[in-house]
Amino acid sequence: MRLLILVFSLCGIALLAQDAPKPAAPAFKNLKVLKPADIRAAMGMATSGLGVQCSECHVQGDNGSDDKPSKVTARMMFQMTQEINAKFPDGKMHVSCYSCHRGQKEPLMAAPKA
Ligand code: HEC
Ligand code: HEC
Repeated sequence: MRLLILVFSLCGIALLAQDAPKPAAPAFKNLKVLKPADIRAAMGMATSGLGVQCSECHVQGDNGSDDKPSKVTARMMFQMTQEINAKFPDGKMHVSCYSCHRGQKEPLMAAPKA
């Protein structure tokens, strides 16, 4: 009987070990436009293009959150920028956040008065 209990508890341990979560690759939880491999470059383009910090769009400690309205606007902007670039026949990237924003949150509609 004691042996049987030992055998069962060993099986239990083996099952638990199998269920243990695998060391996960860093997974993004809320991407709707960008591919995971493009995140680093895209976020650099957004910060330098608008002259802002990550915290302009992201709730600190939770990059997946959509609580900041600027992030929701930025997602639309990422999509728009992709669509503009897709219209160029050579398949290369021609337009970035900086092309319009020039290091500012709000792009100018007209040339500043001289
Ligand atoms: C102008 C706004 C903006 C700025 C600035 C910005 N991000 Fe983002 N970030 C976004 C948007 C929009 C997404 C979601 C893209 C999508 O839906 O495909 C995102 C997604 C992410 C994600 C994936 C989160 C998840 O789990 O889905 C990470 C990580 C991230 N950003 C990190 C950063 C870091 C680090 C910085 C600063 C270097 C930064 N971001 C600056 C707008 C911004
Ligand atoms: C074709 C020009 C153009 C491009 C390219 C562009 N934007 Fe914009 N963006 C604008 C305009 C114009 C506005 C102001 C919209 C308004 O007046 O409501 C704006 C507004 C924004 C805002 C809101 C700013 C605020 O006042 O809070 C964010 C955030 C933003 N853009 C992010 C981005 C990001 C990130 C990129 C690159 C992926 C990008 N934009 C590329 C034209 C552009």
